[in-house]
Formats: sequence, C-alpha cells, structure tokens
Amino acid sequence: MRDVIDRILVSEEEIVKRSSELGKQISDDYRKTNETPLVVALLKGSVPFLAELIKHIDLDIQFDFMDVSSYQGTESIGDIRIDKDLDCSVKGLSILLVEDIVDTGRTLKEVTKLLMNKGAKDVKVVSLLDKPDRRVVEIEADYVGFEIPNEFVVGFGLDYDQKYRNLPYIGVLKPEVYK
Ligand code: XMP
Ligand code: MG
Repeated sequence: MRDVIDRILVSEEEIVKRSSELGKQISDDYRKTNETPLVVALLKGSVPFLAELIKHIDLDIQFDFMDVSSYQGTESIGDIRIDKDLDCSVKGLSILLVEDIVDTGRTLKEVTKLLMNKGAKDVKVVSLLDKPDRRVVEIEADYVGFEIPNEFVVGFGLDYDQKYRNLPYIGVLKPEVYK
C-alpha cells in the first residue's frame, strides 16, 4: 500500500467481483426491455471502472466519452462545464451513464438533464461508488457498486490533483496529503 493511503476501503478483488455482478444485472435489465444502451463514460475517473464493467455486459453496446468538471480540490461546486462533448448523437437512444462516484449528485443531475435535452430516450446511471451522506440534490444511481462513508477516496480512477488514479483499489487518502 502507498504511504499516502490511510487504509483500503474497497479491494481490487471486491471491485472485480462487483463489476461482474453489475454487468450481468445491467445485461438482464436491458435485455428485458429489448434496448441496447449507448454507454457514456465520464472522463477521466470512470475509465478503469468502465473497462472492468463492459467485460461483463453481454449486449452489443457502443461507448462514448464526455468530460465535465464541477470539482476543484476536494470540494464540489455548483454548475458543470463541458470540457469534451460526445462524438455521437444521443437522439432517441437509451443511455447508460458510467460514473466513478456520486457525491453531492450535481454532476449526475446536470449531465442527465443535458442528455435528455439533447433528445436521449432514457438515461440510467451506474456508479462505482456512492457517498449518500453528501447528497445535496435528489438523485440516485440506478446501479451502485459500493456505498462508502463521507471520506475523500482515491484509486481505481479517482484522483487527488490528477494523481493516484492508477491505484488498483479504493483507498482513503491521508488528510495530511490535502490539508
Ligand atoms: P458530485 O458532487 O457532482 O461530484 O456528485 C461527483 C464528482 O466529484 C468527484 N468526487 C471525488 N473525487 N474522491 C475523488 O477523487 C472523492 O472522494 C470524491 N468525491 C467526489 C468525482 O470526480 C465525481 O465525479
Ligand atoms: Mg468525476
């Protein structure tokens, strides 16, 4: 374990196992409705989770990326800014949005609204992590990997100042690293 990490909250084994469960559940749910979603991943944090998850989605999906920002340091702030838009049109499509973590919920709410305004038929959300204690807007992911307490975490895509995304687990960062 790296010296900046206080403790591991979710191990690599747990993430791999849970991703396969979610992938199977997502496949079953979409198959029931005869829909194949366009998988939209939010850069950069969701990339490791996307890679793990899609191995277990047994549908002919396509995926695309969006980059939005609403977060500076460790504090979430209001509006989002689109840094990279989707390459393809979402008109009439069912979207499965892949997120690393739902915190205040603002990002999800704004991105969902944006996709619906662009003509998406439906938006569902799968998030690796959920911090329900921090929610300020009413929104829930349809599929959640792990609920975690209100602590700043890094790894498996999540960063502090763009670092630690490559850790294979979710760990709590030592407070002295960001204080
Ligand atoms: P909101 O508040 O809009 O935020 O739900 C979602 C985004 O906030 C970031 N976030 C974190 N990033 N460790 C991180 O590395 C955390 O503990 C954390 N909590 C929120 C993340 O970018 C997410 O997409
Ligand atoms: Mg993010």
